[in-house]
This record gives sequence, structure tokens and C-alpha cells, in this order.
Amino acid sequence: MFGKEPMESLDREALYFFHTYERIPLEIDRGEGVYLFAPDGKRYLDMFGGLAVNALGYAHPKVLEAIGRQARKYIHLSNYYLQEPQIQLAELLVKHSGFSKVFFTNSGTEAIEGAIKIARKWGSNRGKSEIISFTNAFHGRTMGALSMMDRPKYRDGYEPLLQNFRIIKFNDAQELRKAVGAKTLAVVTEFVQGEGGICPVSPEMSDEIDTLRKKFGFLLIADEIQSGIGRTGKLFGFGHYRASPDIVVVAKPLGGGLPLGAILGNSAV
Ligand SMILES: Cc1ncc(COP(=O)(O)O)c(C=O)c1O
Repeated sequence: MFGKEPMESLDREALYFFHTYERIPLEIDRGEGVYLFAPDGKRYLDMFGGLAVNALGYAHPKVLEAIGRQARKYIHLSNYYLQEPQIQLAELLVKHSGFSKVFFTNSGTEAIEGAIKIARKWGSNRGKSEIISFTNAFHGRTMGALSMMDRPKYRDGYEPLLQNFRIIKFNDAQELRKAVGAKTLAVVTEFVQGEGGICPVSPEMSDEIDTLRKKFGFLLIADEIQSGIGRTGKLFGFGHYRASPDIVVVAKPLGGGLPLGAILGNSAV
């Protein structure tokens, strides 16, 4: 069905790779707009969109021009040097998000790890240690992210995971009321669960988080890696609610296909 070349690639992939993904037996040669092309020229409409990464499609001239221009100057410098493009992106994010501080990462899951670290540091001298997350969430594949996810598909074989994490039923305000207390450090949520099946947080749940937050003073961390950067029609998924998170993590389309994530927050954290 997919010709000789792709099958050869599939065999070589089977030989050389750790098998963490089940791949579609289709080799891609190039992309253009919303289309992908196989080596034999056959055109496919790409419904994956790079798993919510390729917001501007493939080979967008502005993205190609920006990458080419920057690559000719330098690709990597380390964080020891000041880098004007980094600062410009931070300024853009600050201007549009309303947050005052930015930390850049290489992926979404690292942004989640960073958010956990910021929260833990914030809670370390406040007697707060427990992070609450929700069933069916997806936050990434590193150990901190996995600690906030219940699905055996992702967790099995990797335990023990991190301590002081608790996962409660998504959109169950009563269970949240029972779980939250003085030791609660943070509640972490996608305002629209992506991998979980495009499930929005209910308005009642969002209000409950807000009420409990005022009472117990925990942080609200919004995982906007899949729902952020305009994907729901607003800059962030939480923009559809009265919610005001303390920390927001973004990634996916932020780098136009290059590996890039960011943590946004205010100076209080
Ligand atoms: C909501 C959410 N959080 C975190 C991640 C992890 O991001 P990454 O794959 O860039 O590590 C994903 C990836 O699909 C995601 O959808």
C-alpha cells in the first residue's frame, strides 16, 4: 500500500529504535501547508498537525525565513550570553499573557518539570508540599509529569514515581473539596484536557478551584501545552474561565516545530 521504500524504512526503524511509539507505516518526504508528501509524490491531508505543534502548517515561509536567518548567525550559545531573539520572545509572551516572568525549556514535559520545581521551591518554606492533579490528564513523559497522571498506559513499569502527588477525579468538585487542605501546594490542570479526549474543565470545577484557592492559598498551575497559543480561540484555554493561574506552561506551536517550551509566572513565584 505504501510502496517499497517506506517498508524498508519501517524495517530499519524496527531494528534500531527503542519501541516507544507505534508508528504509521508511512514515510514522509516533505510537508507543505496542510499536506504531507510521500517519497513517491503521493499527497496526504495531515490531520495530526504534528500533534498540535504545526499551527502554521508545513514550510511556512516566515518560519523558514526566521530559522534560516538565525541559523546563519548562531544556533546555540548557552545561557551565559545575552541573546536578543530570546529576549524578544520573552517580551512578546509577557506582553500578551499578562505574566511578568518567563523561563524557556526544550519541551512541554520539561516546562511541567520546571513548574513543579518552581512550586516546590515556593512551598518549601510555607509548609506546603502536596500537588493535586486530575484523572485522564496528560502532562508529558518525564517522571514529574507521570506522577500527575493516572493512566496505566503511561505509568506502568515506571513506579515508584515522585512523592506528595495526588490524583483525583476530573471535574469532581466534591472530591477536590475533600482533597485540598493547608498542605496543598498546587492544583495542576489542563483547562481543556487534550489527550484525555478534548474535555473542558466544568465552570463549577473552575469556580471551586478558585474558592478553595482563596481559602487555602495554593498555586494554580495551568498546563496550556496543547490548549494554549491560540488553539481554543483565545491565547490560553483558561481564558474562557474566570481563572487566573499562578503558573502557566506552554510549548508545542511556540517553536514553530523546533523544540521549545516556556513557563510563565509572576514574580511572587
Ligand atoms: C497537555 C500536555 N501537556 C504536556 C505535554 C508534553 O509536551 P511535550 O511532548 O512537548 O513534552 C503534552 C504533549 O502532548 C500535552 O498535550
